[in-house]
Amino acid sequence: MLVTGLEILKKARAEGYGVGAFNVNNMEFLQAVLEAAEEARSPVMVALSEGAMKYGGRALTLLAVELAKEARVPVAVHLDHGSSYESVLKALRAGFTSVMIDKSHEDFATNVRETRRVVEAAHAVGVTVEAELGRLAGIEEHVAVDEKDALLTNPEEAKRFMEETGADYLAVAIGTSHGAYKGKGRPFIDHPRLERIAALVPAPLVLHGASAVPPELVERFRAAGGEIGEATGIHPEDIKKAIALGIAKINTDTDLRLAFTALIRETLNKAPKEFDPRKYLGPAREAVKEVVKSRMELFGSVGKA
Ligand code: G3H
Ligand code: 13P
Ligand code: NA
Ligand code: ZN
Repeated sequence: MLVTGLEILKKARAEGYGVGAFNVNNMEFLQAVLEAAEEARSPVMVALSEGAMKYGGRALTLLAVELAKEARVPVAVHLDHGSSYESVLKALRAGFTSVMIDKSHEDFATNVRETRRVVEAAHAVGVTVEAELGRLAGIEEHVAVDEKDALLTNPEEAKRFMEETGADYLAVAIGTSHGAYKGKGRPFIDHPRLERIAALVPAPLVLHGASAVPPELVERFRAAGGEIGEATGIHPEDIKKAIALGIAKINTDTDLRLAFTALIRETLNKAPKEFDPRKYLGPAREAVKEVVKSRMELFGSVGKA
C-alpha cells in the first residue's frame, strides 16, 4: 500500500528500527526493492532522485506509484534531494508520498525559508517532507573539532530548524558522504553528535551516504573487470548504533549500483555470445534484491509490515 513517508518513519523511530530508502533508476531496481520488501515483510521507501526522474521519466514514476499501491507492505515513493520548489511540485503531481527539499548548501535562513515553502505545498496535499541541515562530507578522524563543527549538523540549530520549518523528518550530517569513497579505513561517524541531536529533535532522523560498500562486492566488481579505487563504506555496526540513537531512514544507492553492475559484468564475461538483455539484467536484479534484503535485516525492519 502507498503511504506517506512519515507514517512509516514515525513508527520506526518510536520502535527503534530503521527503514531503508533505496534509490531506483529503472524497472529492475524498482522490482528488486518491492519484491525484497514483500518477502521480508518490511516497510520500505522507494527513492527517485531528480536524475532518476529525468532518466526514467513518466514510465518510471508511473510504475513506482502504481506498484507501490499494489504492494502488500507499506511503501512510500520519495523524491530524493529535491533541489527546488518546482522539482518538488513535479513529484507531488506524479503522486509521490514523500519529498525531500535539500537546501543544506544555503545559509540557515534561506534553508528555513525554502523548506517552509515546500512544507506548505506538500502538507496541503497530504505529503510529508524531509529536509537537511549540515554538509555531507567524509571526515578524517584527525580533522580539528571546529572544522568538523562547521560541516556537521549542530544540535541546537537542528531543533530550531525543525520548529521553524515544520518539516517531518531531518537528514543530518554526522560524517557520512555519498558514493563509494567515504574515508580511510573505517569512516568516521559522530555518534555523540547524533545522540545530542536526537535528544532535541523528536522527529525521525535520516542518514544519507549510508552504503556499506562491502569489500566482497568491491572485489567481485574488480574481478569482473571493473575499475574502482580504495572504496570504503559505513560499517554495519555504525549503522546499527545510529539506528539505536534515533536514525529512522537510511539511504542506500551505491551498494545497489555496485551489485547490479558487478553481476552484469560477470554474466557477460561468462557468456560473450549472449545478447538477450533478460539474461544479464535478470541476475543483476536478483543481486540488487539480495542486497536490499540484507540491508533490511541490518536495519531491523524485517517483519515490521
Ligand atoms: O544522493 C544521491 C543519490 O545517490 C542519487 O544519485 O543523483 O546520481 O541519481 P543521482
Ligand atoms: P550512498 O551513496 O552511500 O548509497 O548514499 C545514497 C544517498 O544518500 C541517497 O540520497
Ligand atoms: Na532522501
Ligand atoms: Zn543522499
